[in-house]
Amino acid sequence: MSLALCGERSEQAMQRLRIELKAETDRSYDVLVGRGILNDLHREIKKIGSFSSYGLVTDDFVRPLVAERLQANLRLHNINSELLSFPPGESSKNMEIVLHLCQQLIARGFDRKSLLIGVGGGVVGDVAGFTAAIFMRGIPYIQVPTTLLAQVDSAIGGKTGVDLPSGKNLLGAFHQPLLVVSDPDVLLTLPVEARREGFAEIIKAALIADPELFSLLENEGTQLLESDNEVLETIIAKAAQVKCRVVSQDEQESGLRRILNFGHTLGHALEAASHYSLTHGQAVAAGMVVAIRFSQQWAGLGQDEVDRALALIQRLGLPTGVPGDINSESLLSALEKDKKIQANICHFVLISKIGQAVIHPISVQDLKGSLDKFGTN
Ligand SMILES: NC(=O)c1ccc[n+]([C@@H]2O[C@H](COP(=O)([O-])OP(=O)(O)OC[C@H]3O[C@@H](n4cnc5c(N)ncnc54)[C@H](O)[C@@H]3O)[C@@H](O)[C@H]2O)c1
Ligand SMILES: [Zn+2]
Repeated sequence: MSLALCGERSEQAMQRLRIELKAETDRSYDVLVGRGILNDLHREIKKIGSFSSYGLVTDDFVRPLVAERLQANLRLHNINSELLSFPPGESSKNMEIVLHLCQQLIARGFDRKSLLIGVGGGVVGDVAGFTAAIFMRGIPYIQVPTTLLAQVDSAIGGKTGVDLPSGKNLLGAFHQPLLVVSDPDVLLTLPVEARREGFAEIIKAALIADPELFSLLENEGTQLLESDNEVLETIIAKAAQVKCRVVSQDEQESGLRRILNFGHTLGHALEAASHYSLTHGQAVAAGMVVAIRFSQQWAGLGQDEVDRALALIQRLGLPTGVPGDINSESLLSALEKDKKIQANICHFVLISKIGQAVIHPISVQDLKGSLDKFGTN
């Protein structure tokens, strides 16, 4: 991979999306998407303001791939930063890592006017964001997502947090970044399986809110998984735009933001029922397949669109159904445990057509019948 962090890019070469947050104090921010734009991070930082110190938070795998080069580039432009890293993977998304980071920040003299920059996948983003949310009652941070999933989903929207031994994301805070900088060039080193994870979320975005993005994905087909795909930048920008639009209207998930859970209600149940042998992307894809069938039954989704949606999921090598060893009872019990069933009703995000999400209540009885019919063997 060659990640040149020295040239300059023009404004026109990138897409500047915006999260508009309606609040007393303006916390709106830009989400930048463009190949090579990491080269310009110094300029974007200087536009925002000046800070007493700068901390790049990353994992040990991304450190030599992106973070060290970024640190060198910032230094060239007179921004000296400290580099803090921890072991890669979900097992690092915990309070011990956050405490360790906070202690390192104190030892290096960080204060309330310091800036953190999270450089990595969703794990780094969640940990760096949560550290920024609680360090000295909250300091500013920037997200530099380096996985496809993080660029289209986790880096946008200000949800931060860590896991507890009893469950994922059980400690957390809403803390919006000052800026998100998504450079598709950093994805060149990403393995194909990690790309698929990202595409599960991109298909979700297309199905709930962007028919044009859906057609683009259909036209590209399996070429999407190639690392140097030229259209990827447009796809990332469109999927990121969906998340920006939804978060701008519902920052704290009191209404519209729930549509981002398309495929996830059952997806989370599947992750749990498979004892996490399914990855998040695989579980969400299988959850979307069931949600698409439910959409045909309850939300009037036409046969042609059902077929197109299922075909796209299949072409990207994602699961097209619930694995045979998971039955409807274990899924219902996982939904119960996750508090998704209340008064015998489970609310599902469905689509009435490609690009149009609706929330639909389904009784446990109907759910079981339908899961037995289309979901599980
Ligand atoms: N905050 C939110 O709104 C939100 C939304 C969705 C998911 N998440 C969280 O995101 C996490 C999953 O994110 P993820 O899939 O990015 O996982 P991740 O951060 O663990 O990254 C996956 C692996 O890819 C490596 N990697 C990162 N960038 C790379 C690159 N450019 N080239 C090669 N390898 C690279 C990482 O070192 C890691 O080993 C989960 O913890 C999930 O809960 C958060
Ligand atoms: Zn997801």
